[in-house]
Amino acid sequence: MFITLEGPEGSGKTSQVPSLADYLREEGYDVVVTREPGGTAVSDQIRDVLMNLKNVSIVPRTEILLFLAARAQHVEGLIRPALEAGKLVLCDRYGDSTLAYQGYGHKTDLETLRYLLNYATGGLKPDLTLLLDIPVEMGLERKRKNDSEWNRLDAYAEAFHKRVRQGYLELAKLEPERWDIIDASKDKDQVQQDMRQAVISRLKQK
Ligand code: TYD
Repeated sequence: MFITLEGPEGSGKTSQVPSLADYLREEGYDVVVTREPGGTAVSDQIRDVLMNLKNVSIVPRTEILLFLAARAQHVEGLIRPALEAGKLVLCDRYGDSTLAYQGYGHKTDLETLRYLLNYATGGLKPDLTLLLDIPVEMGLERKRKNDSEWNRLDAYAEAFHKRVRQGYLELAKLEPERWDIIDASKDKDQVQQDMRQAVISRLKQK
């Protein structure tokens, strides 16, 4: 079972992952937690290039190809082997981040992105995607309070982040059977409960 977590900036998904993973382990699942960009040694090196505030000269096509290169390595080096071994993979961001950020956010042609994404992942799609949805102002405010997490991509204009959020909502509407929308503006314990419930009900369907 391949589960991904998606959401705009400050949705709090990263801080929710450990507790969700602990809960699923208690329920008897063999859980592998990973994140993008990253997840393997090579992918982490690509992440450093993408996140570095000094790399202001990165152009959109370079950015896309770096995210996809990191993902290709991640899929073959970690995600696919774990799934084949019967594990539950919990991944903080995946292909939908590319569609939301590079597609809706930067207005790159979505069909081109879908084609490249399919190539990079060898067609591997999540079984379930949780969208931690939050209004843009609230998410950015949460993130600004924690300066250490502020990276090159957060520095884009607010209009960009609004397109990203709308993009996610549209993606969820296109494939409702894969997505579950969680209201991430609620307090963090409630968000955690909602996430657990969404995952468990999907696991029971399988
Ligand atoms: P990260 O520090 O991991 O933030 P978050 O906690 O929000 O996940 O940074 C990941 C950033 O990279 C985030 O701004 C979203 C962006 N991103 C893309 O633009 N495209 C992608 O394909 C991926 C995976 C991430």
